[in-house]
Amino acid sequence: MATLQTLEEALVEELRDLYSAEQQLVEALPKMAKAATNKKLRAGFTEHLKQTEGHVERLEQAFQLLNEKPKAQTCQAMKGLIREGSEIIAEDAVPDVHDAFLIAAAQKVEHYEIASYGTVISWAEVLGLTEVRNLLEQTLEEEKETNEKLTEISDTIVHAPVA
Ligand SMILES: [Fe+2]
Repeated sequence: MATLQTLEEALVEELRDLYSAEQQLVEALPKMAKAATNKKLRAGFTEHLKQTEGHVERLEQAFQLLNEKPKAQTCQAMKGLIREGSEIIAEDAVPDVHDAFLIAAAQKVEHYEIASYGTVISWAEVLGLTEVRNLLEQTLEEEKETNEKLTEISDTIVHAPVA
């Protein structure tokens, strides 16, 4: 691979990583929804699936603004987070505990995305790429909201000791 010379090239690289991450999530979220017992949690995963499809589209718009073809570069971190999620799905646990584990896995995913979008947003800002920045900011807000919703659901599930 050619030596990266500019922050804009680094931004494109990071966006390719995120593009892969979001695509992996589009595949994983239906499985998470299926594995959830709590109705709110299941609905939350389904809603976030729709949002995630929008995140993929926003990244495609960002590539377009940067005159780059949308190209994914396998995000190993998301691969690992999703693998962990699959292990949880396979785990034998009572429904509440199983749901609590699913939330834990999903929040790790959200925090990873929040960190990644935070970085690309600040880079786009430095580069004066306002439109790209705004697109990414919208996604970041949805990731944050999702994370908060997961905490709310978690509080209702795990507030009492599970017998
Ligand atoms: Fe996302």
